[in-house]
Amino acid sequence: MASKIILLPGDGIGPEITAPTLELLDAVGTKFDYEEHLFGGASIDAHGIAMTDETLAACQAADAVLLACVGGPKWDTTDADKPRPEQGLFRMRKGLGLYANLRPVRPFPALYDASPLKREIIEGTDVLIVRELTGGLYFGAKTRTKDTASDLCEYSREEIERIARVAFRAARRKVTSVDKANVLETSRLWREVVAELHAAEFSQVPLENVLVDNAAMQLVSNPADFDVIVTENLFGDILSDEAATLTGSIGMLPSASIGEPGKPGVFEPVHGSAPDIAGQGVANPLAMFLSAAMMLRHGLNLEAEAAAIESAVNRALAEGLRTRDLGGSADTRAATQAVLSNL
Ligand code: IPM
Ligand code: MG
Repeated sequence: MASKIILLPGDGIGPEITAPTLELLDAVGTKFDYEEHLFGGASIDAHGIAMTDETLAACQAADAVLLACVGGPKWDTTDADKPRPEQGLFRMRKGLGLYANLRPVRPFPALYDASPLKREIIEGTDVLIVRELTGGLYFGAKTRTKDTASDLCEYSREEIERIARVAFRAARRKVTSVDKANVLETSRLWREVVAELHAAEFSQVPLENVLVDNAAMQLVSNPADFDVIVTENLFGDILSDEAATLTGSIGMLPSASIGEPGKPGVFEPVHGSAPDIAGQGVANPLAMFLSAAMMLRHGLNLEAEAAAIESAVNRALAEGLRTRDLGGSADTRAATQAVLSNL
């Protein structure tokens, strides 16, 4: 039986980068049973909520979820009583137990000169950011009066240990655990638990602890030194955007969010819904293509097909493919053709 994939094109450029991704998946020879659902702002418009019970249940029952992006000015609000597209993301992360967010940052050699950093600095950079995704400030209790507000940051030993395990398993050279242990109690627990797990199960993997402010600096001054970075939810959010710019464009970065083995993961580009260019057919589809590759590899065990997509993207870039975000003029169609012709 064909694997069941839930498609969540979401908002903005989402639908226009999802359609060519399905073309690419067909071209690579995979046959899936796709089921499309509204998500984010599109779901708010239709159902008044960013992710319905029905969509969550469909995701829980699927083999994998391929998500494009959500959000847009139409749903931007600071009114806590109004639904927001991001609530769909949070509901999905919790509802599918997606505690590990993997964001690989590997600048393409063909794009070294598109990076804001000097070529000598980014050359050889190959970082995997392992971001904790279901704890910390994102999910802690919130309070609000007219003049005061609070967000609780809480982590348990179990939450820290399971994300650290993902990081140690993924390491090739070392693990850099990023925290703010000189200030935050959650970071002190984080450091303790990571050290204990390291001593008990992964003592062969070099481990270093770096404070988050220093990590932010090193990411732009010496990115090639990092291998796997593991960190809590908010730090991971911030550092992954910072790392994304190293590739020349956030339009290039895929991600995988995974939970317990055997449960469906969610695969999505790191970029947002780009409302400013939505509907024009000019969005860069490469991060979505690479997210589909991550889905094949991590979600469906189709390594050869994943590698085929990645190398086709590589070759298309080497041949000179440049979408607008990379300073070129290729539109979504041209980018898709360039990748298809390199499969
Ligand atoms: C991300 C995004 C989300 C996050 C936003 C849209 C809520 O920035 O996936 O990195 O902060 O997790
Ligand atoms: Mg983010």
